[in-house]
Amino acid sequence: MEALRRGIATRPTLLLLTLAALLVMLPEVSCTRWIVGSSQGWTTNVNYTIWAQNKTFYLDDWLFFVYDRNQMNVLEVNKTDYEACNSDHPLHNWTTGAGRDVVPLNVTRDYYFISGKGFCYGGMKVAVHVVNLPPPPVSSPINSSAPGFTTYRGHIVIPAAFAIAAIWDSFIWLW
Ligand SMILES: *[C@@H]1O[C@H](CO)[C@@H](O)[C@H](O)[C@H]1NC(C)=O
Ligand SMILES: *[C@@H]1O[C@H](CO)[C@@H](O)[C@H](O)[C@H]1NC(C)=O
Ligand SMILES: *[C@@H]1O[C@H](CO)[C@@H](O)[C@H](O)[C@H]1NC(C)=O
Ligand SMILES: *[C@@H]1O[C@H](CO)[C@@H](O)[C@H](O)[C@H]1NC(C)=O
Ligand SMILES: *[C@@H]1O[C@H](CO)[C@@H](O)[C@H](O)[C@H]1NC(C)=O
Ligand SMILES: *[C@@H]1O[C@H](CO)[C@@H](O)[C@H](O)[C@H]1NC(C)=O
Repeated sequence: MEALRRGIATRPTLLLLTLAALLVMLPEVSCTRWIVGSSQGWTTNVNYTIWAQNKTFYLDDWLFFVYDRNQMNVLEVNKTDYEACNSDHPLHNWTTGAGRDVVPLNVTRDYYFISGKGFCYGGMKVAVHVVNLPPPPVSSPINSSAPGFTTYRGHIVIPAAFAIAAIWDSFIWLW
């Protein structure tokens, strides 16, 4: 009896933990956080046109700007101002002051970013084209909704499937 009660008491905790794990896991499955300039970050002497080449930026990906907060900044501008390095009327000032700025790419369109303070003229400018996710791959020839070994944009979805199974298991135990 005692053991049974204890067992029931721990179940909701397990359920909450699995739910939390699932919530943490799902964005990781579908989004990429791009560090602008990769290991070099947001700085001078990097050609960001080359950095963005051959990369596909999907809806709800993120850009992560890492830079010297005392010198540079991150301004979103329109195409004209991107080409002219004009920082007089940014569409959005993403600078937070920490030198670590995150930009959600939550609309499918072209985004243009420059650094003000004259750095744009030295090449601190980046343009990214954001597209919709391709439809999930169809696991042919078997037409099944069961979670299999499908990879979704390179990430394996099995952890999510396990979490769902665990939650289901918790529900059965609660029952
Ligand atoms: C992008 O792909 C093209 C064609 O495969 C290749 O010539 C070019 O070097 C690639 N650029 C980068 C930065 O990897
Ligand atoms: C960008 O903004 C400037 C100033 O507001 C404007 O003159 C220019 O036409 C805009 N360019 C585009 C492509 O919207
Ligand atoms: C952008 O915002 C930061 C932080 O609020 C501020 O310090 C900076 O002056 C702003 N820059 C521009 C160009 O508006
Ligand atoms: C995209 O993100 C920006 C900044 O967080 C927000 O202001 C805007 O409403 C969002 N747009 C959509 C379509 O979610
Ligand atoms: C970056 O590289 C591209 C492609 O090689 C070139 O067209 C462009 O002029 C370069 N940009 C800068 C600022 O050097
Ligand atoms: C796969 O199954 C779904 C729903 O059960 C059905 O609508 C669809 O036509 C099937 N596709 C194929 C290729 O059999």
